[in-house]
Amino acid sequence: MSKVTVVGAGNVGATCANVLAFNEVADEIVMLDVKEGVSEGKAMDMNQTAQLLGFDSKIMGVTNDYAATANSDVVVITSGIPRKPGMTREELIGVNAGIVKQVAENILKHSPNAILVIISNPMDTMTYLTAKITGLPKERIIGMGGALDSSRFKYYLSQTLGVNANEVEGMVIGGHGDTTMIPVTRLATYKGIPVTELLTPEAVDKVAADTMVGGATLTGLLGTSAWYAPGAAGAYVVEAILHDQKKVIPCSILLEGEYGHEDLCIGVPVVLGRKGWEKIIDLKLTAEEKAKFDASAAAVHKTNNVLKESNII
Ligand code: 2OP
Repeated sequence: MSKVTVVGAGNVGATCANVLAFNEVADEIVMLDVKEGVSEGKAMDMNQTAQLLGFDSKIMGVTNDYAATANSDVVVITSGIPRKPGMTREELIGVNAGIVKQVAENILKHSPNAILVIISNPMDTMTYLTAKITGLPKERIIGMGGALDSSRFKYYLSQTLGVNANEVEGMVIGGHGDTTMIPVTRLATYKGIPVTELLTPEAVDKVAADTMVGGATLTGLLGTSAWYAPGAAGAYVVEAILHDQKKVIPCSILLEGEYGHEDLCIGVPVVLGRKGWEKIIDLKLTAEEKAKFDASAAAVHKTNNVLKESNII
């Protein structure tokens, strides 16, 4: 029996649970939320799609009952408030840090061996907070931002190229922030052909710029932050872990000297498998890419420092 808990049954958490069930990633999926009845209702609604969609996973919704999450293999943390139009992800730290800390502590009381996937924003800092307060082996703490940002990158590339998004390869590394993420355009390909050979430099730059503000664009349209791609990206990461897929996905992980940085969580390509992140892929960055990565790391450190200044860690 495999079991995944999704904490937070808001738009992102519920979408993640729905994708996990639809794709039968786990036998059992528990959704936990603080709002009375919300998880229970969404779980029942999803279970009622099982026959229509033909899946066998079971979804259970609970209100703050951490005992029901016991022995989860993977736990996805989506708790906290989303951003509103005009807000950065970093502005959410004051509210979300306390919530994520409490959730991580409660989860580990009942699932001490779980692998934690962090979605709550500011994602890199929430991942770092989780690493600091739980003391878990670093390979069991994974921020999902790079999976989402890479998917948006491939979407914008496919739109610009006029091709199928599934035939485009590309990675976004660095922080999960409007100014900190780094779409690695040099390594993006369509059927193995570098996109830099297929698009003008201006078009490539526009794809990168659109990717970086991809979340903000949606927040502007929706009045709150996006959920279909963030939820699906969470499920994609969970599947790679639980099914031991050894997929390479950029994720936010604790660096200890890799990429020239330490004591922060930031997006780098990692191999995901049943142990969590199992290996870091060491990209040979150009001087320009390395300078962007260093600037991104500096910005993430600055946000992390808020945790220290507020005595959260
Ligand atoms: C996003 O980029 C929610 O951070 C998430 O849409």
